[in-house]
Order: sequence, then structure tokens, then C-alpha cells
Amino acid sequence: MGESIYGLTRSHKCAELTSANIGETVTVMGWVQKQRNLGSLVFVDLRDRTGILQLVFTDKDGEMFNKAKTIRSEYVLAVVGTVAARAPEAVNAKMATGEIEINARELRILSSSETPPIYIEENSEVNEITRLKYRYLDLRRPDMQRNLILRHRVAKVARDYYDDNGFLEVETPILIKSTPEGARDYLVPSRVHPGKFFALPQSPQLYKQLLMVSGFDRYFQIAKCFRDEDLRADRQPEFTQIDIEMSFVNVDDVLTVNEGFVKRVFKEALGIELKTPFLRMPYAEAMERFGSDKPDIRFGMELVNVSELVADCGFKVFTDAVANGGSVRAINAKGCAKFSRKEIDALVEVVRTYKAKGMAWISIDGNNEIKSSFAKFMTEDEMKALLGAVQAEPGDLICFVADKNEVVYDALGQLRLEVARKLDILNPEDYNFLWVTEFPLFEYDEEEGRYAAKHHPFTCPMDEDVALLDTEPGKVRAKAYDIVLNGVELGGGSIRIHMQELQAKMLEMLGFTQEDANRKFGFLLDAFKYGTPPHGGMAFGLDRMIMLMAKTSSIRDVIAFPKVQNASSPMDNAPDIVDGKQLEELHIDVIKENTLY
Ligand code: AMO
Ligand code: AMP
Repeated sequence: MGESIYGLTRSHKCAELTSANIGETVTVMGWVQKQRNLGSLVFVDLRDRTGILQLVFTDKDGEMFNKAKTIRSEYVLAVVGTVAARAPEAVNAKMATGEIEINARELRILSSSETPPIYIEENSEVNEITRLKYRYLDLRRPDMQRNLILRHRVAKVARDYYDDNGFLEVETPILIKSTPEGARDYLVPSRVHPGKFFALPQSPQLYKQLLMVSGFDRYFQIAKCFRDEDLRADRQPEFTQIDIEMSFVNVDDVLTVNEGFVKRVFKEALGIELKTPFLRMPYAEAMERFGSDKPDIRFGMELVNVSELVADCGFKVFTDAVANGGSVRAINAKGCAKFSRKEIDALVEVVRTYKAKGMAWISIDGNNEIKSSFAKFMTEDEMKALLGAVQAEPGDLICFVADKNEVVYDALGQLRLEVARKLDILNPEDYNFLWVTEFPLFEYDEEEGRYAAKHHPFTCPMDEDVALLDTEPGKVRAKAYDIVLNGVELGGGSIRIHMQELQAKMLEMLGFTQEDANRKFGFLLDAFKYGTPPHGGMAFGLDRMIMLMAKTSSIRDVIAFPKVQNASSPMDNAPDIVDGKQLEELHIDVIKENTLY
């Protein structure tokens, strides 16, 4: 059986020891990274949260030496020993503790381990399902530990920063009423109220607005949010927001205080000095230049509108798009004329994924020779004009998409990113933040045949656009903004409507009847009757922020126990069936899938 640690007190964590401790007697505890038995010597690498430390056992030590020979990976040890300098040839410059080792005097095996199903090492190549099944082992890996330590640090800076700026952290409920936020709700059946359900919050949105009505002035919360939506690398069914709301503010106030947080957290957690204020770019400009409302501005390759140049050319694909109210736009993929046919076909596939019907292209090789998928439809002058518009030079590949504006933006915006990835010009060390502002208030829902809120129904239109609400709702811009980092939407928010009449009008436009609105969020509308301060706020996606700070490509790497693609957890097998008795108490009958078909 394992031995007690009674009488032994840990004096140092593994990587806290340096050559300054040589000669000291220390007690260390941790996991065995590896054991090497050299016959007369046994080396053990001992690991804890801080790093790895080398222990040495020699055969002079008799019984302890025999015990050291039985040590296997992931055993948990307590060792008392003397810190000694390594022989010069044994110094390991790659290890923080590479100049020293511990000559063991006392060894206790606190716990043994079966052979672990995954290697506990940096950047292990094990497939993710296995990693997540044994997440408690996966989390022993130094890179995972660093990510979670960083996450802790960021949350700590957030609390300090917002506290310093007069914000109060207030908890809001997890069992709430289903409110309209855009995604599907997770529902929780009520035992006490048969047939009724709580929803898990998609965000604390309505509660933080109520806190403004209550006079808390500045609120923040590190809040768990739940959304039942299709998962991606940067989307989890439960995730965390740094959620903020402020009273008596305009857009500029919200952006300034929150970019101050970003500046401080990058400085304190990463030692990186960011320049503020961040660039602010209206939505329309972001779409026009980058084809995206979350542009990656680490590189150029901006979209160029060539609609006017081709409106009367001989290429029907182009002229039709323009005639139908769409556009023809291009990007100049600098230096990509060398792409093979196969590589160009792959680019065509990219734009098709984003609903474009095709991609037309022109390439100019080093000898100024022009190849093109549509030259036969164009005059020489027209081709020249196109090349001029995108400032083409020898070596360039120009890619064109003709379609409805939304499709053109999306397809070329994505193509731009794909070309940048292919050219490997995206430096993860560059942190290019910007605010995208003046989002449209509405987006047209083709299926429903009416306008829907682009952000949420409580978002305030821009003062100068209120008059357009009745005439051209599609053109109304909102006091809404997103913070974007390297092509990722890190957060977003808005100034809210605090005038009852305007709110009523918005709800009407969104197709809510009075009755609907009252049933869904009457409590908020009621609250607004009793003196509402102008207010606004935002929320950062904490997981995404850590993902980018840790330079990983998935938020699963910065969440201790994440879900996999199909929103389940391979470790504890959630979600799972429950006892019939539990269902009965909840007044729930499960209609099994196979009885539905
Ligand atoms: P929004 O819905 O834009 O705004 O969410 C804010 C930020 O949260 C992050 N995020 C996610 N992260 C991981 N997984 C998800 N499924 C997920 N969904 C969103 C994003 C996003 O920018 N209540 C408003 C904020 C406000 O108006 O104040 C809100 O929730 O980084
Ligand atoms: P085709 O006349 O079909 O040979 O098309 C000529 C070129 O136009 C091909 O390179 C097609 O991929 C391209 N093309 C087709 N549809 C579009 C579109 N919507 N936008 C841009 N190029 C397109």
C-alpha cells in the first residue's frame, strides 16, 4: 500500500529550485515523467505544475535504491534529498532546472500508476477524443497547464481591472426564462411546475440591463453562457463571457474602457504592449474592403469593386451580376501566378463553399504573359482596365467573383484568408485589434420574409438613422460594435434602447405582437417603465480570448473539460439517459427516436 506523507512537508515545487539552492536539503513531491535505470544509478524526472526536476538514486542506498528501480511513469513520489550541481557534461540547458539534480535520501511512493493511455508530454499527437476521454491526464501536459494558468491570470486581471474602474461583479441566475437571443436554448424541466421549463442563459443580457435599471451603474461578471448551436473550433455549447454593462454612456465610453482592459490584460498576462485606441472601422467599410465583419487586418489583399469596369463587357457572368443589382469584385493574390491548375481549382472550391457559383481569374507570369479563365469574352482594353484596377504586376493572380453582394463579400473574404494561409503570411505574434462599428440594426430573414435583429431586439439605432426605420429599415445602422482580433470575433455589444416608444416600435418591426413581447420579456419592458438610465455594454468571449493569447486553434484547448463536436463529453459520457423515476418526477415521457420513424 502507499505510504503516508505524515512527517514530510513539501519545501519547494519542482522547478522552483535552481543552482542557488545547491547544498540545501529539500522535500519535493510530484509525478514521475520518466525513470531511467542505468544499473548503478536510477534517474527520475519528477514533474509538477512548475516543471521537471531530476532526482538521482545510487546503489549505495540499498533498500531505497531497490524501491527506486520499481518506479514507473506517473507514480506519485515524495523525495527528500540534497540539491547538487550536475557534472558540466550533464547540464541540460533546455530545462529550467537543468543545472541541478537532487541526490535522494528518502523516497516514498505516495501512489502508483497504471501505464497511462496517453503520453503526458508537450504537443502530444494523440487524437482528441482519447485526450478528452482521459482529460484529467491530458491536463497534466505542460502546454495544457500553461493554457489554464493563463486563463486564471486573465480572469484575475479582468476582476482587478473592472474593479479599479468602478464595476461591480454581480451574479445572475442560471435557471432563467427562455429569452430571445438568437441561438437555441438549453431547457431544464421543472419538477414543481409540470410542463414548464427553465432555460439556461445564452448570456446574462436582460439581467444586466435590469441591474442598470436598479442603479448599479457599472456591472461585470465572468459568466457562463449556454447555447445549443452547431459547434466549431471556436464554439462550445457552454462557454464563458466577460460580461459588461454601463449606465450613462455612449459608444465611445464603452469602447474606451473595454480596450483599456485588453491593453492591461495583454501587458500583465503576456508582457505585450498594445497600442490604444484600437482602429475603429464602420461595418460597411469592413465589408467593402475585407468582405467580412471580422476582418483579419494583419495583411492587405483587399477587395476591389470592378463592377463599373465590367458592366458592359462581353462576359455574361459579370454583366448579369451587375445588372441584377449584385457586383463583381476581385482580390489580387500577390505572387500567386505560380499556382498550379490544381491549386487554382482548390481556390475555386473555396468560393463555392461560400455559395459563389464560380471564380474567374487572371494570372500574369514573370514574363508578363497573361492567362485567364475568361479572356475570350473580354477586349484587350477591358482586361488592361481590370489589371489596372487591382494594381496587378507580374507574378500576381487576380481572382474575381460575380454574384449578389453578400455572396461576393463572403466568398472573397474567405478566399482572401485562404490565400493568406497558403502563403503562410499570418503571424500569430501579431495582434491586430480593431472595433467594427455601426452594424446594421436588422438583417433580412429570407425564410421568414421579414427583418430580424442583427444583434438583439434591445439594440439602439444610430440617432441619425432613426428616421429610416419607417422607410428603409435595411439601411438603419445600430449603435452596435464588435471587437475583432486577427479575424476572430472576440466580443460584441451595443448601446441599448432605453426609450419605451422606440422599444415598442422595434418589437413591432421585428414581428412581435404586444402579447408575444409581454410573454417573452414583459418583465424587462415593465422595468423600463420605472426610470431607465441610458445604458450599453458588451461581452468578450473569454475562451476565444485565451485561445488567441495561447496561440492555439481551438477553444477546447483552453477549457478544462470541453465538449466534443457533437456536444457530448467522452470522459463522463454526458449527456446520458436517466432513471425512469427521474423522468417521472419531471413529468417527462421520452419519445424514443426509433419510434418516430
Ligand atoms: P454575443 O452573442 O456576440 O453577445 O456574444 C459575445 C461573445 O461571446 C463569444 N461567443 C462564444 N464563444 C464560444 N462559444 C460560443 N458558442 C460563443 N458564442 C458567443 C464570442 C462573442 O463575441 N449579450 C450580448 C453582449 C452584449 O450585447 O452586451 C452577447 O452575448 O466571442
Ligand atoms: P465559363 O463560361 O463557364 O467557362 O466560365 C468562365 C469563367 O467564369 C470560369 O473560370 C468560371 O469559373 C467563372 N465563373 C463562373 N461563374 C462565376 C461567378 N459567379 N463569378 C466569377 N466567376 C465565375
